Amino acid sequence: MKGCVVLKFGGTSVSTRERWENIEKIAASYLEKGEHPFIVCSAVSGVSNLLEALLPLAVKGEHAEQLDAIYQKHKVLADALELDLEEYIKPELELIQRVAHGASLTQEVSPRLHAMVMSCGELMSTKLGVAFLSREGGVLHGNVSWEDARDHLRAVSTQEGERNLTRHYLSARCGFEPSKEMQAKIEAKEEKVTITQGFIACDSEGHTVLLGRGGSDTSAAYFASILEASRLEIWTDVPGMFTANPRQVPSARLLKKLSYKEAQELASMGAKVLHPRCLDPVKQGQIPLHIRCTQQPELDGTVVSAQAADVGAQVKAISTKSGIPLISMETLGMWHQVGFLADVFQTFKSHGLSIDQVATSETNVTVSLDPVANALDGKALDALLKSLAQFCHAKRIGPCAAVSLVGQNIRAILHKLGPVLEAFEEHHIYMVSQSSSDLNITFVVAESQAERLVRELHAMLFGDVTQDELIGATWREIFEVKKDLGESASDRLTPWWEEQREALLELAAREDARGGAYVYSTQKLVQAVDSLRELEHVDRVHYAIKANAHPEIMRLFHDKGVCFECVSPGEVERALEISGDPSRILFTPNFAPISEYTFGFEKGVQLTLDNLHPLREHGELFRGQDIFLRLDPGLGKGHHKHVKTAGPQSKFGLSRDELAEAAELAGKFGFTITGLHVHVGSGILKSPETWAENALFLAEQADKFFKDVKVLDLGGGLGVVEKPGDRPLSLALVDEYLGKFKALHGDRFELWLEPGRYCVAEAGVLLAEVTQIKRKGEHAYIGVETGMNSLIRPSLYGAYHHIVNLSRLHEPSAWTADIVGPICESGDVLGYSRRLPVTKEGDVLLIATTGAYGKTMSSLYNLRPSASEFILS
Ligand code: LLP
Repeated sequence: MKGCVVLKFGGTSVSTRERWENIEKIAASYLEKGEHPFIVCSAVSGVSNLLEALLPLAVKGEHAEQLDAIYQKHKVLADALELDLEEYIKPELELIQRVAHGASLTQEVSPRLHAMVMSCGELMSTKLGVAFLSREGGVLHGNVSWEDARDHLRAVSTQEGERNLTRHYLSARCGFEPSKEMQAKIEAKEEKVTITQGFIACDSEGHTVLLGRGGSDTSAAYFASILEASRLEIWTDVPGMFTANPRQVPSARLLKKLSYKEAQELASMGAKVLHPRCLDPVKQGQIPLHIRCTQQPELDGTVVSAQAADVGAQVKAISTKSGIPLISMETLGMWHQVGFLADVFQTFKSHGLSIDQVATSETNVTVSLDPVANALDGKALDALLKSLAQFCHAKRIGPCAAVSLVGQNIRAILHKLGPVLEAFEEHHIYMVSQSSSDLNITFVVAESQAERLVRELHAMLFGDVTQDELIGATWREIFEVKKDLGESASDRLTPWWEEQREALLELAAREDARGGAYVYSTQKLVQAVDSLRELEHVDRVHYAIKANAHPEIMRLFHDKGVCFECVSPGEVERALEISGDPSRILFTPNFAPISEYTFGFEKGVQLTLDNLHPLREHGELFRGQDIFLRLDPGLGKGHHKHVKTAGPQSKFGLSRDELAEAAELAGKFGFTITGLHVHVGSGILKSPETWAENALFLAEQADKFFKDVKVLDLGGGLGVVEKPGDRPLSLALVDEYLGKFKALHGDRFELWLEPGRYCVAEAGVLLAEVTQIKRKGEHAYIGVETGMNSLIRPSLYGAYHHIVNLSRLHEPSAWTADIVGPICESGDVLGYSRRLPVTKEGDVLLIATTGAYGKTMSSLYNLRPSASEFILS
């Protein structure tokens, strides 16, 4: 039907006068453009829930209050609309009352009556609505008519429906073939605006049936298809589909364009804004579907159509579906047994339950049930478990949540999700499945874990995305949500390099910056070191110079009273050059030749041993010396397995069962153990108690074995925010925990720290000019002048470094590309799948948080010099 636009308004959009005025305004503006609005409405917000609970209460004779609440909801609205309630919705109110009364007498409710009562919600809202819109003096006066949806939507009868009355009456499906007859009827009307109900239809015998919860979207889609509308608009209280549920993740971004396939997947995977069933009718009719926001009609929202931008393989959103029960079926009997699955699946079928995902092993089959497709209640599941018991030991696990990464061709980018999947490190995964449609990968986890997980995943996947053709503003930007919803503080601060952009670009243009340039901010270095020096319960800070051994940085730190920690003679020499005072230098060699211990003693620095071998085999060398011992408390921590430095798989430290022997060797060879040391790993962000726990461990060993110990060196490992969305480590908490330790042990021990990364990471950036751009199949590459020869962390640890186009910092991102260097290795990638603006040869990319373990881990690989270094004063 030419010019027909189907608009659907949900419960909140029809609940107040203001909202109805809004509908009026929208309809009038479409009329003005020569379009015919066909409006599908839900029941007034909250009414469906009240109606749903009414009959079960009536059976117990406890429905009076509920009836009153239903009446009151409509009374309030009718009063606001200046309408006489009795005049418009008396028949429905009476019907509800009669059925409830009947149920209280017969003490039973049939699905047919249930459907009848529920349908009153939509009938009442639309009757009040049409009366309001037609009022004298209104812009639509004389131009609005009411249609009963049941005259047009006919439920399709199915075998399943015939067997299962609940399904027949409460979860019906309808045909949606275009109907010229209906189109002609609507077109012939004098009134150009039509109002009808969502959610309800009728069966072949004329009984009222429902389309299931969320069925108003589906009704609207059916009407759009039947009327061959030019578009369907779903008006709701969010402006579209987002990269995650914005109520969980306020930095979620609007998805401006989606294909039917993607929208379907998102809706099925839990995005509540659309009901999954509503996509099929519009897809078949190729009718564009717009999701619009009632409170912000000026926004374009999300458009779902066949013309969605094709951006290749990309995760578009993270969705969660909660309330998912898992059914685990365990039996040895299924091993090599024919028909086990057929039997158990038949049981699900006979209970009318649809299975969503399946995982199998030789003795166990676990399935998840989709709460949207199934009317799940405790009773239904108990009955299922009882029936399954004849085949296996069946039990229910949950409630669980399915967290899905959604996007087309997801398999093509699975390998890039490596760092992202680290978010699962702390979450037990019950099930993983990858859809055969190649549109999602889903992880089933405990429901209580889901929200945190989604936030972490979102930060990793979308943290550095900016607006472009496909991806819009964040929820926060749209709604200006001011509340702190728990995102990291660093998300909110402007990074130093943004403020210093001009100076950095100038520097990057210099001849001596060719091949890449590390640039360090003095201000940021000072800030980091000052914050460590201010820790009340830390007696000494030894900067671990392996993180960055730039002499000027070391001098700056030295002047601030910081000591050094070294792991090689080269580092010791450098530290001595700067400080001149060996008593301020720690030397911690590991599997080093024995000559290095001699070297250390000659230089007068403080040696730490982390193996008994030198003591057992070369004990005399240590006679008369004061040494520290590095212990292994048994459990490593850190941002990657390569940097967890405790536990049996780690080569570092003495295990507990070697300590008695260490004490014995000290007696035998006449050396004194004056300090104990522990370093459990690097990049620790989440557990500020780590250092105090290690202090407790060391103090216990000192008490047991080493009476001369004065120093507990708690190592480094203090993490910094690398991935967007990480929450910074609270130094205040680290200090507070150490304070608790000191409260227990008084002044008996000095506490030393050996931070490396914390002092320098955020102060450094790597600048590199773009050399070449390339597209290959679905992949796009941005080449820069240096790669893993300057920064190996992404290749070695899958480390994430934020990357921006500094030359076009505030331009919208336009594409997704891998940022690669010039080294002859496929692993020479600085960042995978980054969203960047249109980028040109000669632009300067900035790779952030590279002050630590950047230059010091660089190499001459391919004989390409690594990036040079500059310090910004
Ligand atoms: N003390 C000892 C004994 C260490 O082994 C280390 C680091 C530190 C202190 C300093 O740790 P930090 O505060 O920087 O986490 N290349 C890896 C880090 C390896 C750290 C090795 N040891 C990375 O780029 O993440």
